[in-house]
Amino acid sequence: MNQPPYESHDPDILTLRAAELLARIATDAVAARGVAHIAISGGSTPRPLFKLLASPEWEARVPWAHTHIWWVDERCVPPDDPDSNYGVAFALLFQHLPVVITHRIHGEESPWQAAYLYEQELVESFNLWAGAWPRFDLILLGMGTDGHTASLFPGTDALAERDHRVTVGHAPAPPRDRVSLTLPVLNQAAHVIFLVAGENKGPALTTIFHQGGGDPPLPASLVRPEDGHLLWLLDTTAQQAAGLDLLQDC
Ligand code: 6PG
Repeated sequence: MNQPPYESHDPDILTLRAAELLARIATDAVAARGVAHIAISGGSTPRPLFKLLASPEWEARVPWAHTHIWWVDERCVPPDDPDSNYGVAFALLFQHLPVVITHRIHGEESPWQAAYLYEQELVESFNLWAGAWPRFDLILLGMGTDGHTASLFPGTDALAERDHRVTVGHAPAPPRDRVSLTLPVLNQAAHVIFLVAGENKGPALTTIFHQGGGDPPLPASLVRPEDGHLLWLLDTTAQQAAGLDLLQDC
C-alpha cells in the first residue's frame, strides 16, 4: 500500500493548517450545495483546533449556519461527562458560536440504541435510500497509539463492520463502550484529514507509512477514501518519531 499523503508542522502551525482546511472545505461545500457536513473526532489532539475555531477572528471564517457538525464516535457516557466527545467540543467551541447545527450521539442511551438513533439521523439528514452511504465533506480523524481510529480498534467486530453506517466499538480502556461511524462511511468522505501529534504515535505511524499498514493492517491504515482526498497532518514530533521527512506542504 503506497505511503499516504502527509504534511508535518510545528504544533501551532499544525492547528492553523487544520483550521484553514476545515474552513475552506466547509466554505466550498456551502457554496456548491448550500450545506456542509463535517464529522469530528474526540480525544485530546483536536482540542487546540476547537479553541482556535472558537476565537473571534475565526468565527466568520466558517459558515457555521450551514454546516452540520457530526461526531465520528462517542463514548457511551452522558454529554456532561468529562469523557464525552460532544461535551468537550461543546465546551471548547460550540457554546461560543452564535449558531451551530450539531448531531450528537446520545451516549447516555444504551450503546446499540444510541447507534440506531444516530444511524436514523444520518438517513434522514442525508436523505439516504436503503444501503446508501452518507458522504461527508470532511471527516476529521485522530489515531491512537495502537493505530485505532474513530472507535474502530484492532481485531474488533466494529472494525470489520461493512454493512451498517454506525456500530458499537469496544475500547481496551474505559469508557469501553463507544458508538462509531464504520469504515465504509469513513471511506466515502470527500476529504479525510488525520490530525496526529506526539512522539507516542511514532510506532503506529511507522507501520502505516513504512510497512504498508501492517499485517493485519492497522485500522487507521484502512482509511483510504474511495473518491476523496486523504491528508495526514502530523506535528513534527510525531513526524520525527515515525522517521518521516519534514514535509511542510503538498
Ligand atoms: C476518541 C477518538 C479517538 C481518538 C484517538 C486519538 O473518542 O477518543 O475519536 O479515535 O481520535 O484515540 O486520541 P488522542 O487525540 O487523545 O491521542
